[in-house]
Amino acid sequence: MSRSAVLVGIGSFLPPRVVSNADLVARLDTTDEWIWARTGIAQRYYADPGMATSDLAVGAGAAALKSAGESTVDTVVVATTTPDRPCPGTAPLVASRLGLTGAAAFDVNAVCTGFLYGLATGAGLIAGGSADRVLVIGAETFSSILDPADRTTSAIFGDGAGAVVLRAGTADEPGAIGRCDLGSDGEGYDMITVRAGGSRSRLAATSPEPGDHYFTMAGREVFWRAVQRMSDSCRAVLEQAKMTTEDVDWLVGHQANQRILNRLADNLGIPRERCVSNIAAVGNTAAASIPLALDHVCAAGLLRPGHRVLLTAFGGGLTWGSTVLTWPALARG
Ligand code: COA
Repeated sequence: MSRSAVLVGIGSFLPPRVVSNADLVARLDTTDEWIWARTGIAQRYYADPGMATSDLAVGAGAAALKSAGESTVDTVVVATTTPDRPCPGTAPLVASRLGLTGAAAFDVNAVCTGFLYGLATGAGLIAGGSADRVLVIGAETFSSILDPADRTTSAIFGDGAGAVVLRAGTADEPGAIGRCDLGSDGEGYDMITVRAGGSRSRLAATSPEPGDHYFTMAGREVFWRAVQRMSDSCRAVLEQAKMTTEDVDWLVGHQANQRILNRLADNLGIPRERCVSNIAAVGNTAAASIPLALDHVCAAGLLRPGHRVLLTAFGGGLTWGSTVLTWPALARG
């Protein structure tokens, strides 16, 4: 049987401050009814100033290592849109704070698809023999780039981190990471973006247009693309695995919006009750969304060994990705 990466540990971490819909209503022109009806979100978590993405990543990474019973890995991948600094990557700091100095460590940025890109990268390093154990973390402090005056993005996004440990095994083991379907469409580059601060709009040379250093999203335009791309990607990865949606016990989609998750499930013909959702409690945590949802549903005892899990995400870039795996027996950190 061929060498493959196998998922052997999971963990997550949320910052302490809960921001309810009522907290947003107090400072923005919005209502609890609008947010709940249009997104399915009741609350989200914000890291207060002083707490950064690496702090959340270390919390999730430590929990995943404990769950795996590992004290060391040889590679750390941090998927994030909100690194501690533009340079260097956040992963080397996270590795060193976890006692993993010397490990290969780098960031991946595919916005809300970041965790699946990171998972595919980590699994590829193991399958190719360059690594034996990889810690893949999705971590975001999205509140640090939100425009406090934008009622739509403020209602949706939150902070958090989730992580998994992969180790070398074989493709027939539970937890084996098979083919990942990944894609992008840069024609939608402007639809989900922070305009200022990179090499195109240089903060040192020009003063950005007001608001250009904040995150923006063309929500309505993105909505249908998210549904379509995730549906197509799920079908592609199932076909490659010679599976149908009937074989899927749990659909774990990127927690962007409950209405998107519902339409995705309907499109694929998967009953909505088999579509994992923790969006009401945490909002959209971008690259952290999928491992957070997996950890929460695992903790709730719903996701059990032997269940077949279809993972899919869509995000800025535009990017998308999916994979399917059989859930392994895991201790929780
Ligand atoms: N409270 C009250 N009203 C709000 C609001 C808020 N928080 N946010 C937007 N609105 C208003 C808009 O101004 C608009 O008013 P108008 O009709 O007078 O112009 C109205 O609600 C409808 O806006 P629209 O943008 O069409 O809402 P929507 O139903 O599409 O929901 C999103 C907005 C962002 C929640 C939704 O489009 C979405 O989830 N998009 C995709 C997100 C995604 O998948 N991103 C990629 C991965 S992160």
